[in-house]
Amino acid sequence: MVVSNVFYAPGEQRAAKVGDLFAAIARRYDLLNDLLSFGLHRRWKRRVVELAAVRPGQRALDVCCGTGDIALALARGGPEVTGLDFSQAMLEIARARSQRSEVSDRKPEVHAPVFLQGDAQQLPFPGNSFDAVTIGYGLRNLSSCGTGLREMLRVARPGGRLVVLDFGKPPNALWRAIYFAHLKVSVPLMGWLFGGNADAYAYILESLKHYPAQQGVAETMRELNLSNVRVINLLGGAMAIHYGEKPK
Ligand SMILES: C[S@@+](CC[C@H](N)C(=O)[O-])C[C@H]1O[C@@H](n2cnc3c(N)ncnc32)[C@H](O)[C@@H]1O
Repeated sequence: MVVSNVFYAPGEQRAAKVGDLFAAIARRYDLLNDLLSFGLHRRWKRRVVELAAVRPGQRALDVCCGTGDIALALARGGPEVTGLDFSQAMLEIARARSQRSEVSDRKPEVHAPVFLQGDAQQLPFPGNSFDAVTIGYGLRNLSSCGTGLREMLRVARPGGRLVVLDFGKPPNALWRAIYFAHLKVSVPLMGWLFGGNADAYAYILESLKHYPAQQGVAETMRELNLSNVRVINLLGGAMAIHYGEKPK
């Protein structure tokens, strides 16, 4: 197995490379998520949905929705949900999953999410549109994390919640070294064995190195004047949830 960083490029090239990456792994994306996190990503996403706290009659946006995990979970609580992603391949899977869950889950109060193609750095919505805006494993992939957060804030309503889930950088040096070694070796190996693509999974560590993670994302949220900014470390900081509210 030879591993290269073909999917990471700084600056202008970033979005095109990330688009290629998700087009390449879309079919196996959900399976690999379960395998690589031992199913824990489901629990972390439930936490995101709890923090978003959207009720029937409210509106939620899930940015970088991928195959729709968070959007579908948000919709189960009864709000109107929009999932947005720039990858047609990921959106097709999200729409198919939504149709399947509509057939099995016919509760009248549940609206199927609307899945739209669009760019997280230029959200196609007017300001003050949503009661909660979430993003799971998406912010790290944007060429500018600040632009992504600013856009999420712009489209949130006053008092609206912003919730970000992504990989983190563990504060403990030993745990960080072990965790980064795991991302460098075992994760690309599993990506190769089960998804036929080591490079796409080597990208996780490369993108994490360039991601401001716990401290940097919290700092940007504070600079943007979000209130009640909180960082929730998961698995000793291997993952992190950022929470903040748009001032009223
Ligand atoms: C790691 S996946 C996360 C999917 C899903 N949120 C989850 O938690 O499973 C990242 C997603 O972000 C999307 N993405 C990356 N950059 C984007 C951008 N600039 N605009 C919209 N979507 C983007 C990718 O297409 C991909 O579906």
